[in-house]
Amino acid sequence: MRFDSLTRRRLAAPALAAALILTLSAAPAAADTERYLDPRASVPVRVSDLLRRMTVEEKVGQLQQIAVNRMQGDCTWSGGALNETCMREVLADQHAGSVLSGGGAAPAVNTPRAWAEMVNTLQRYAIEHSRLRIPIVYGVDAVHGHNNVLGASVFPHQLGLGATWNTGLTQKTSESTQRAVAATGTTWNFAPVADVARDQRWGRYYETFAEDPVLAGTLAASAVTGLQNRVSGRPVAATVKHFAGYSEPFNGHDRAPGDLSPRYLQDTILPPYKAAVDAGALTVMVNSGAINGIPATGSRWLLTDVLRDRWDFQGVVVSDWNDVRLLHTAYHITDSYTGAVAAAINAGVDMAMVPPDDRGFHRAALDAVGQNLISKRRLDQAVSRILALKFQLGLFDNPYVDPARADAAVFQADRPLNRQAATESLVLLRNQNAALPFGAGTKKIVVAGPLADNLTDQVGGWTIGWQRVPDGVTIPGTTILAGLRDTAPAGTTVVGTSGPDDAVAQAASADAVVVAVGTRAAAEGEADMPVPQLAADQQDLVARLKATGKKVVVVVVSDRPLALGPADETDGLLAAWLPGSEGGNAIADVLYGRANPSGRLPVSWPSGTGNQPLYYQQLPGTNGGAGSAYTPAYPFGAGLSYTSFTIGGVSLASGTVRPRDTVTVAVTVSNTGGRAGDLVVPVYVGQAVANPLAPPKRLAGFAKVALAAGQTRTVTVSFPASRLAVTPGDILSTEEPRVAPGAYVVSAGESAATLTVR
Ligand code: NOJ
Repeated sequence: MRFDSLTRRRLAAPALAAALILTLSAAPAAADTERYLDPRASVPVRVSDLLRRMTVEEKVGQLQQIAVNRMQGDCTWSGGALNETCMREVLADQHAGSVLSGGGAAPAVNTPRAWAEMVNTLQRYAIEHSRLRIPIVYGVDAVHGHNNVLGASVFPHQLGLGATWNTGLTQKTSESTQRAVAATGTTWNFAPVADVARDQRWGRYYETFAEDPVLAGTLAASAVTGLQNRVSGRPVAATVKHFAGYSEPFNGHDRAPGDLSPRYLQDTILPPYKAAVDAGALTVMVNSGAINGIPATGSRWLLTDVLRDRWDFQGVVVSDWNDVRLLHTAYHITDSYTGAVAAAINAGVDMAMVPPDDRGFHRAALDAVGQNLISKRRLDQAVSRILALKFQLGLFDNPYVDPARADAAVFQADRPLNRQAATESLVLLRNQNAALPFGAGTKKIVVAGPLADNLTDQVGGWTIGWQRVPDGVTIPGTTILAGLRDTAPAGTTVVGTSGPDDAVAQAASADAVVVAVGTRAAAEGEADMPVPQLAADQQDLVARLKATGKKVVVVVVSDRPLALGPADETDGLLAAWLPGSEGGNAIADVLYGRANPSGRLPVSWPSGTGNQPLYYQQLPGTNGGAGSAYTPAYPFGAGLSYTSFTIGGVSLASGTVRPRDTVTVAVTVSNTGGRAGDLVVPVYVGQAVANPLAPPKRLAGFAKVALAAGQTRTVTVSFPASRLAVTPGDILSTEEPRVAPGAYVVSAGESAATLTVR
């Protein structure tokens, strides 16, 4: 049985919550039958049976998630072998319910087998030192493959998957990640990110799927399905993060507060998280930031009113790194740690990620419970959700993994899938005079630029290390130079270069120059880029190569779209995002024409600097000038192919719908060129008259189809009419979004039809 359907059934709302409350208030007298250890008992029965046996100390312990670093080496971030003294402190004394590996936290020897052994050791210790034999749940940031594990396949980062517009492919990459994660004994993955990418200054832009809520939400839902789809091995829980509004700090700096109007929040920011929650995600991670003056970690509106009451989420809410403590020490919304714990738990946090702070948190939480700042009922509710997760993941019944299988399951797993994902993520933005693909006349290709032979920056942040692959560590993978050289067609010579002067000199005898430019790998705040543009020396390199008069193809390997300056307007321009360990092969496949590019921009590509945030769904303004007009270098959805397509003939299954109905759109698409290709078919909706303001168009649904040369097909795209919902009312309105009756324009390509909502 698929894990997602299994968990959905077991979690069926509101059955679990109701069953828990019922059994909690009427604890059975037959205290001696340990029903919680019986795998045949239902999850609610097991949870309530266990819960009634637990002391307050044990319950409070379940609320905390501690970093593995706290139990390695000297127990203060030295890394190294597990240290039994600290394991005792964390797992036995404080009864910690969960352990995590944040970016870069690995076993002393970083192999899949060692990961499995490390997790098993912690698990065994926890179970054997727990009076009630309660297992831990181990969480990791496997955000593009099992990326902390040396030798694992490193997939494109989410933004690249966004460029594929391919839900099935996204699901498959997540299934691959599930297999790898599960093989190492870890059962909780802090992915996917459902934040929308709207401010290109923000350091975590590349961790998102798209600027558009429908594209981001659809792909996040696919990722959840893939991660929780138990294709083999143990189940893994997905995490929808960072709930909510993390991606738009007011000044583009990570974790700076955001000011988001209720309308923007409800209509644009929340829907992708909702899509991922609706896909059955078992956990949600909270935004570290503050929205409209309220830290998300302490927001009852977000974590309870929206997530639980409106969306009926039944799983576990975990706070982000240290954020509960930060309510006191950074946000100062309380004058004590105790108050901070109470504020977070009462707002709706079930588990606190307090990486080094098992003792402090435990004390503060006990204190909060002792002072009745957290009710017993709320404590039991949070603990019940955590225990339910552990039962759902099979941790009580099957706590260990077989380390002997880990290496084979993880090392370079699913390389063909990884190469396909990287290939479909590539967006061809410019192809003057059919400069690409390189033909038989291309005898010598010079490959230049700082990203040409640079796996570290190609795979990006969150790879082995938090910021980047640490110095001295080599991961398996193919750089652009290696890919072009090793897969060159007979008769084509590929040469690398040793710097800008060498590149320019070598270009003199080249038929084509591939210049790979982009960004340095980094993560979180260290990746913030107040002015998102290509570095001046790289712009200069491209300008010098252009001046040679040779055919120049720019490949941008970057964590966001960049203003390119003179590096634009070359013969060819390929956006490669952070394409992962197969990126070099994928880029070679496209440049040599073995693959026909099919990626489309999931975000807007800026024409210059100074226009952040940047996204296509801009509302109408009155100056008509640069301030409000949408003038990107390449708009959302842009992307070329080696063949040509037409999109037209939009028709609606029903021209009149009600807000609860599904809108079904038929679109006729043709491949009018000479080779097979995949086409993204976006369907947009606009309104001629709208109050509140509406952007000229917004994505409502999409499809991706394969078309043989000369083929015409009719594609069906369906979406719920509820996607058209907006927050009604005047400036301060907080009403729930609803679909305004009236006329909507449904369009694809140049064709449109009128939809009436009654
Ligand atoms: C902080 C990051 O914000 C979050 O994305 C990540 O999952 C956790 N740390 C755990 O490493």
